[in-house]
Amino acid sequence: MRKPVVMGNWKLNGTKKSVTELVQAFVAPANQAATLVDVAVCAPAVFIGTVEFNAAGSRLQWGSEDCDVHTQGAFTGENSPVMLKEFGCTYAIVGHSERRQYHNESNECVAAKFKAAQDNGLTPVLCIGETEAEYDAGKTIEVCKAEIQAVIDLCGIEAFNNAIIAYEPIWAIGTGKTATPEIAQNVHHQIREFLKEANAEVAQGVRILYGGSCNAKNAAGLFCQEDIDGGLIGGASLKAPDFTAIIEAAVANAK
Ligand code: PGA
Repeated sequence: MRKPVVMGNWKLNGTKKSVTELVQAFVAPANQAATLVDVAVCAPAVFIGTVEFNAAGSRLQWGSEDCDVHTQGAFTGENSPVMLKEFGCTYAIVGHSERRQYHNESNECVAAKFKAAQDNGLTPVLCIGETEAEYDAGKTIEVCKAEIQAVIDLCGIEAFNNAIIAYEPIWAIGTGKTATPEIAQNVHHQIREFLKEANAEVAQGVRILYGGSCNAKNAAGLFCQEDIDGGLIGGASLKAPDFTAIIEAAVANAK
């Protein structure tokens, strides 16, 4: 059995006040969900201390939206996995499509970040997914495989024993265009089949989240799919009632 995860990705949003209020609002639902569902928020690095302060002692987990490949040194502006760990992060998102696009992160760069996060005690959340043009050209699984293969090449398949994959079709991120549960399930299934070629046990155990305009209305339909183990939630994780409803959808499905 794979324990579902509901993870917020706040991107470049928030104030000290809104972060404090959101974390305080999520603590009770996360505590209630904890035996069945892991609940986490990934915050801008500057707010991670605020998240830690308000979530400490609860079952709400947290993480970063990125992490550097270095642990320390002359790398101005970066955040090291060691620092993130010190601030209580459980997870580090790596390879979000916005970083691949706006910061030119290659599959190899993302794999190196995955490795750095994992080597320093964080659980990497590897984001993968195709553009609209690639979707239209029928290249979805080819793109996803290449993004995963770079990690397998660097870290080995066993690295996915302690990692999460988030399938996020880029055409669905922030657009309101969600992949239908059938489309998403089909891709998740193919991702698992691909991992199975390397190691069936690892493939069976790895949690694969769906991301891309997942919201309070469509979460239940997505989460009941066999190979969808929760969601990476952008916009809807900035609204307490919506994120809480998504947690509840995951809990209802896990029962
Ligand atoms: P969205 O973002 O839910 O706002 O589409 C998801 C993500 O980019 O992780």
